[in-house]
Amino acid sequence: MVSKIALFNHEAGLGKTAITFNLGWMLASKGKRVILLDADPQCHLTEMFLSFFAQTELEELYHKNQNIKAGLAPAFEAQPHLIRAVDCIGTEGQERLYLLPGHVGLAEYEATLARAKELSASLETLKNLPGAITYLLNQTAQKYSAGYILIDMSPSLGAITLSLPNYSVTHRRAPPKRGS
Ligand SMILES: Nc1ncnc2c1ncn2[C@@H]1O[C@H](COP(=O)(O)OP(=O)(O)OP(=O)(O)O)[C@@H](O)[C@H]1O
Ligand SMILES: [Mg+2]
Repeated sequence: MVSKIALFNHEAGLGKTAITFNLGWMLASKGKRVILLDADPQCHLTEMFLSFFAQTELEELYHKNQNIKAGLAPAFEAQPHLIRAVDCIGTEGQERLYLLPGHVGLAEYEATLARAKELSASLETLKNLPGAITYLLNQTAQKYSAGYILIDMSPSLGAITLSLPNYSVTHRRAPPKRGS
């Protein structure tokens, strides 16, 4: 059974992406099989991973459909086939670490998901769009025998972030001390 851990904070620039990458690296170094999922349309985790390992360009992944948006397309674009595991990007230096790349267009699915949540009481077919994300992650984890999926979230409280609450680790700043 794969453990999914999402890293979230609604303030930008606090280190979510850096922590996701480094945590994944450390878990892989300790023998765990880890998938890093870039769930932020800014794609910073994908850029970091690609620049670190210098294997391919982000746009090339878009064309190969090797990204989170392409993986979810059967559900979000009503394509008549099953959701299939995404082909993740591997690394030579750390063979148990994989990247499930992001896509700038994931922001479009965020809007779709928000509308689906509003309309799901009246349209049955929209009820399980959030479930499509979990299904895709489980299929992909199975393909790579991954023990962990670490999810780098966007800083917005959008529909995708709100669809993954069971996985989220929310970092809060300590409250100010009294009298300060
Ligand atoms: N431990 C650290 N020490 C020094 N700099 C750091 C550390 N962690 C992150 N940074 C730097 O802080 C900046 C923001 O980090 P990062 O992109 O990980 O934040 P983020 O929370 O993912 O931002 P966003 O909300 O925009 O996605 C980056 O330039 C990163 O290199
Ligand atoms: Mg980030």
